[in-house]
Amino acid sequence: MSTHLHELIRGLPKAELHLHIEGSLEPEMMFALAKKNQVPLPYASVDEVRAAYNFEDLQSFLDLYYAGAAVLRTEQDFFDLTFAYLQKAMADNVRHVELFFDPQTHTSRGVNIRIVFAGIARALRKMQHEHGLSGRMILSFLRHLSEEEAIATLESALPLREEYADVWIGVGLDSAEVGNPPEKFRHVFAIAEAMGLHLVAHAGEEGPPAYIWGALDELHAERIDHGVRAEEDAALMHRLQEQGIPLTVCPLSNLKLCVVKDLRDHNLARMLRRGIRVTINSDDPAYFGGYINANFIATADALMLNADEIVQLARYSFEASFVPAEQKEIWLRELATYAAGFQ
Ligand code: ADE
Ligand code: ZN
Repeated sequence: MSTHLHELIRGLPKAELHLHIEGSLEPEMMFALAKKNQVPLPYASVDEVRAAYNFEDLQSFLDLYYAGAAVLRTEQDFFDLTFAYLQKAMADNVRHVELFFDPQTHTSRGVNIRIVFAGIARALRKMQHEHGLSGRMILSFLRHLSEEEAIATLESALPLREEYADVWIGVGLDSAEVGNPPEKFRHVFAIAEAMGLHLVAHAGEEGPPAYIWGALDELHAERIDHGVRAEEDAALMHRLQEQGIPLTVCPLSNLKLCVVKDLRDHNLARMLRRGIRVTINSDDPAYFGGYINANFIATADALMLNADEIVQLARYSFEASFVPAEQKEIWLRELATYAAGFQ
């Protein structure tokens, strides 16, 4: 592809809506924190960690991802992790981030949920204040655990609601999908909905289209994370298109976790051309070989996206975000001006 389109992508104002903050833990930081916090790692070097990143499916990745996250212990660790990611996002011309965090990964190791909230929120607020990069956080439940544990997690976060009202905007559902359908979390999502939180869920990454139906109908998810298996179900595709339900797609993640064999087989362009509101995101960039611009560039190259399609993906990213309409308008105008200057 022409370097002209790569340039378009690099400068493109965009939002990132599917990013697990624990998945932005680079091996260098993993090693530094392991040493500081005296957490043993099963690797001798940073190179050895990177060499281990050969996954055959979601579970083989999750095993390493949870092991890596064990080095995070203090408020400063969560701040440093989040701040490092936000600096990369800013360099990629991301204007707004809605990141996932998995409190259960940390509370199960004895880290208080207040520490997790405090470190992430401090980094988000600092970036907003000093650089105008907007950031929000979505508390994600681990679906391989029980619904009771998810409810207990939400209840433990309730007293923090006011203190973090400016940044904590929603709940999500992640971890091992197959065998853990959305219905399992019906009650906890109903509680979150009653609290006025936004609702999203991973569905149709490895799981069948029925899980996407379940996320929409049982959990009332407003966006679907991944959703690539929707294409197997014509009625579902029709619904996503009709109702304008956004999908937060993560192409390099899908490649690394063998959801697709080759990026040229990815259905993102087909879904986009059928009027589905797809967006491009990085999921767990430290593990999957690239942040958001790398995802855009690899996808644009593999699927031969044109300039209009690339701009449309960025437009959808702002439209699908959970910010007030006036703020979306500001970013959409900036995007339109940028795109017009690129003809
Ligand atoms: N947790 C972190 N990344 C994930 C993914 N891609 N799918 C499910 N759970 C995750
Ligand atoms: Zn994800």
